Amino acid sequence: MSTPLPKLRIGILGCGVVGSQVAKQLLRHRQELSTRSGAELILTKIAVRDLKIPREGIDPGLLTTDSKSIVTDPEIDLIVEVMGGIEPARELILLAIENGKSVVTANKALLATHGADLYSAADARGVDLYYEAAVAGAIPILRPLRESLVGDHVTRIMGIVNGTTNYILTKMDEDGLGFDEALEGAQNLGYAESDPTADIEGFDAAAKAAILAGLAFHTRVTSTDVYREGITEITATDVAVAQSMNHVIKLLAIAELTPDDRISVRVHPALIPRTHPLASVRNAYNAVFVEAEAAGELMFYGRGAGGAPTASAVLGDVVAVARHLTSGALGPRESDYADRNIASIDDIKTQYLIRLDVADKPGVLAAVAQAFATENVSIQTVRQSGRGVDAELIVVTHGASEHALALTVKRLSQMDTVRTVESVIRVEGVVQR
Ligand code: HSE
Repeated sequence: MSTPLPKLRIGILGCGVVGSQVAKQLLRHRQELSTRSGAELILTKIAVRDLKIPREGIDPGLLTTDSKSIVTDPEIDLIVEVMGGIEPARELILLAIENGKSVVTANKALLATHGADLYSAADARGVDLYYEAAVAGAIPILRPLRESLVGDHVTRIMGIVNGTTNYILTKMDEDGLGFDEALEGAQNLGYAESDPTADIEGFDAAAKAAILAGLAFHTRVTSTDVYREGITEITATDVAVAQSMNHVIKLLAIAELTPDDRISVRVHPALIPRTHPLASVRNAYNAVFVEAEAAGELMFYGRGAGGAPTASAVLGDVVAVARHLTSGALGPRESDYADRNIASIDDIKTQYLIRLDVADKPGVLAAVAQAFATENVSIQTVRQSGRGVDAELIVVTHGASEHALALTVKRLSQMDTVRTVESVIRVEGVVQR
């Protein structure tokens, strides 16, 4: 007869799209997950806001509205936080840690603002803090950074980490939709919230970028360190121009080391060549492209949101923490020893595409080229389509600093012959030789 496994009791905070899937899968695969964990996993309590909402497949006896009673319950060993938002999630997690419980959370906003406090508390109390689901849903990316790649030197991460915006940009690219129409489609499919600001203005991606940058570069990075631009200004014409250059526009979360060993962390739309692996990431899928000194290029691809995919990452963490609890081990602590500075966006060099509506007459091209030269911005290509009275000029620069580019754009917009600066979009993912 085999020895019974030790019991490990789990409390879940939140029973929405993700929480209900965590609970259901935990109940459905209880036997197998327990065997893998080396402990009998017992779902003990679930904190909900409203007891009246019917929750199919979940025993109503597990539910309570008293979340504090879960995090202070001496019987519970592990807390899964899937309620989202900063408060009361922060307070509850800290209370859980204070009460000696390991925590698995999917809360990117919380980690990207108060991650250091949570880590310090977990460290002081000797418990685990795991959060794989906080970035790119089902995709294993945080554990690879914390563990698999910790023997390497990561130099750059470039990710599509927001499914809603990737869906919108895919529809603009493939179906020729305008931004508003594509957003409406995303809302109808339930990708975008009725208030889509967090997604389309890049806040969601910025929180994820901060978490990725912190892990990759062993430094505390918060959302406020991330330079951020959303996709609301991207037009159908921008997308068509990108297509004509064999590029595609994506909202990228980029974290990279600068030549002087600072961290550049930013979220903005950018043109990438169609040959870049990230260009093939369509619809609501996410992908994270990592460059490391020894490993070279790696790409992690999958579903970045949704109940079941996110629950997969949460349950992976639950098993990892359960294994630690049964063996008396602990997972990796915070790694912030490098304490690198964050580089200002003004100092970061990228290529740019500038689209101008200009008068179609002699000397205009030369004057435009002079504006770039005056600000020391080197032009890589120029494409002009004359239309008689006016012309469209598309300029792609070599690597230029944000500061120099801003001065160039200001100069261009003050020229009589430049009717409008239609758009300024970064170009990324081009191999510079
Ligand atoms: N709203 C996010 C997205 C998922 O569209 O990818 C949660 O981070």
